[in-house]
Amino acid sequence: MRILLKNIKQLITSQPEESGFVSLDRIKSPVSNFNSILIEEGKIKKVGYNLNLPAEKIIDCSCFIVTPGFVESHTHLVYSGSRADEFLLRAQGVSYKDIAKSGGGIKKSVKSTRSVNYEDLLNESKERLKIFLRKGITSIEIKSGYGLDMETEIKQLKVIRELKKIFKMEIKSTYLGAHEIPEEFKNRRNEYIEFIKNKMIPYIAENELADFIDVFCENGVYTEIESYDILSKGIEYGLKVRLHADEMEYSGGSSVAKRLKAKSVDHFNFPNPDDLVDLKNNGTIITLLPLTNMFLKIKEKPPVELMRSVGNAISISTDFNPGSSPSYSLLLAGTIGMVNYGLTYDELIYAITVNPAYSLDLDYKGSIVEGKDADILLFRKNDYKELFYYSGDDQPEIVILKGEIVNFEKL
Ligand code: NIG
Ligand code: FE
Repeated sequence: MRILLKNIKQLITSQPEESGFVSLDRIKSPVSNFNSILIEEGKIKKVGYNLNLPAEKIIDCSCFIVTPGFVESHTHLVYSGSRADEFLLRAQGVSYKDIAKSGGGIKKSVKSTRSVNYEDLLNESKERLKIFLRKGITSIEIKSGYGLDMETEIKQLKVIRELKKIFKMEIKSTYLGAHEIPEEFKNRRNEYIEFIKNKMIPYIAENELADFIDVFCENGVYTEIESYDILSKGIEYGLKVRLHADEMEYSGGSSVAKRLKAKSVDHFNFPNPDDLVDLKNNGTIITLLPLTNMFLKIKEKPPVELMRSVGNAISISTDFNPGSSPSYSLLLAGTIGMVNYGLTYDELIYAITVNPAYSLDLDYKGSIVEGKDADILLFRKNDYKELFYYSGDDQPEIVILKGEIVNFEKL
């Protein structure tokens, strides 16, 4: 099927540099002078000015801005059970750590995810994924980590594998067995780590159940040494590294990310600033999660000014999960990134398109460039700044996924 998008009011191409991403010291306008796109066989065939080519479908885009499909690179959307009560407690001043100590937090989601059956887990995850797609997310990363035991982690990873089959979206899967120490290993943490290294990782790799491995590297959860150890084992088995690092305090996470050349280092509220240069040189994307900081009332922020001067590359993500960030809106994450960290409109565009695509090894996604997948969004807006300026209005009018217009009624 050939589709021609013509008379585009404003075209955001979000073109990467030769590196495959755009770092904070190389930010340029993401807007193109062209106004038409020809799509053929799922790909962007041509981008040009006033293209007048035959096509089965022609869309007049004079009232639309056009952007690449958004790329969401950090979610925990396969889980069961709600933690809405904790949300209120936190809003009223109880801390995330105190809630976790009294049996809430990740452990609560582990309980409910262990007890749900595969079919129900698949169905609820499917519904969540549809919401993301409706908001223009055309590629997404999903983590396990609410099972911790073999059976439930595999159940989560199998749900992700099934989602890959059901949806045309690009989905990457991450094993996060080191998200917490499970209750049954409370006084035997080393045994749990050995179980991850010797049983889980080999099984997951053999059965191709994950693309990445992740660890919650944080004082009180996994130490720097433990994180390094677990992630190294993952690398040995062909998994690539992303990690939850230094979210609540400096815990050695940025150093682990540096030493293991992670694809992405996430949260990053309290990194060691000395690691920034190496992270840049390694092409590690720093994934900021401004919604989580807002919901957890974390007052400190990632060292954005320093990252700009070093020239690191950033992504923005929702961190969608039932605890610290129950929000589906990547655009809202961008808005909060602007309000709380001072990120600019242009920085935000790259942070939700080509940079997360790079961190997920999706170099054929995230920008409107000839030859790439035709994942394209049409928004009824006048200017791309409005994507972040009018927060809450985050739904594209049309989503094109691999060259096909998504019919949401049939989803
Ligand atoms: O990214 N930081 C660790 N993990 C999640 C929170 C998960 C949860 O609260 O259930 C996060 O914020
Ligand atoms: Fe997370």
